[in-house]
Amino acid sequence: MKIAFFGTKPYDKIWFESKSKDYEVDISFFEASLNIDTAPLAAGHEGVCAFVNDDVSEPVVDKLAELGVKMILMRCAGYNNVDIKAAERHNIPVMRVPSYSPQAVAEFAMALLLSVNRKTYKAYVRTRDFNMNINGLMGHDLYGKTAGVIGTGKIGQAMISILKGFGMKILAYDKYPNKDLDVEYVELDRLFSESDIISLHCPLTHETKYIIDRKSLDIMKKGVYIINTSRGQLIRTEDLLEALLANKIGGVGLDVYEEEDGVFYEDNSNEIMQDEILARLVSLPNVLVTSHQGYFTEEAMKAIAITTLENVKMYEEGKELVNQVK
Ligand code: NAI
Repeated sequence: MKIAFFGTKPYDKIWFESKSKDYEVDISFFEASLNIDTAPLAAGHEGVCAFVNDDVSEPVVDKLAELGVKMILMRCAGYNNVDIKAAERHNIPVMRVPSYSPQAVAEFAMALLLSVNRKTYKAYVRTRDFNMNINGLMGHDLYGKTAGVIGTGKIGQAMISILKGFGMKILAYDKYPNKDLDVEYVELDRLFSESDIISLHCPLTHETKYIIDRKSLDIMKKGVYIINTSRGQLIRTEDLLEALLANKIGGVGLDVYEEEDGVFYEDNSNEIMQDEILARLVSLPNVLVTSHQGYFTEEAMKAIAITTLENVKMYEEGKELVNQVK
């Protein structure tokens, strides 16, 4: 089985290279991201392996089908960048890794919250220069505060446990509430208006796109903290920036961003940043942007490689494709 692996970074190879031997899968690692121009690299491969910012839209899927590709392997949980209908039309199963380490992402969401609240990133820069002044670094106790969690799936639940561990009251919202969870589900407006911190853990769909926009920001408490480790388009960034500039928001931690493509996962340090919204966000003292690294732990990377290769195996053996997206 030959797989074309797009958007390869050195850390992707660690587990995929060693584990592929066990599964007798031959992987061609391409540094290029998948898009209409790079799709021809998949010629001669039965599968392609793609990630969150690859372009797997209809024209790309059509091209892959024309090249004889038989399966699309997403080495991630989200699949909002894949045209599933186009793949189904060509009878190409799209498989994903539904769960690898929800804790990895939840722990990172908490790391973002703790950082923006207690400004450890600013303290680090100061003390490296032996500036031991703590003026401007004051935060808030999390204990006793209210956390609003949107999306109570695997990551949302892991986040709720962590937040409860800090002694926070939880308000939750999910389109499909989980009756087995010991948590108070409320309507979105109440969550927005009563939460001291809001953490997003729902997928990006047509319903959740811009779930945080001017309207929802308007009803939030002054000084609210917003954490997004899910998908950039859950937040209308322009509106978020406006609220930040109006001093409405206490702090923001973003591991994801609306316009990640071509910027995230790349070293742009020698370039002039063309994305003015991102440049402005990064310049604000109460905003911490990270480059979609919530999942990035050794445990998660290993699990991603194994599940992806298991997906190939199930296909090869004609078994039920349990991780197929339909
Ligand atoms: P999950 O599928 O276990 O949970 C998602 C939850 O969102 C479900 O409970 C579902 O009912 C709920 N939901 C669906 N539609 C909704 C709506 N319209 N409004 C509110 N809730 C809705 O997914 P999981 O594993 O918890 O992942 C959540 C998201 O985290 C993924 O969709 C992905 O975007 C993001 N993610 C980010 C990573 C990172 O590295 N930053 C890594 C992995 C996932």
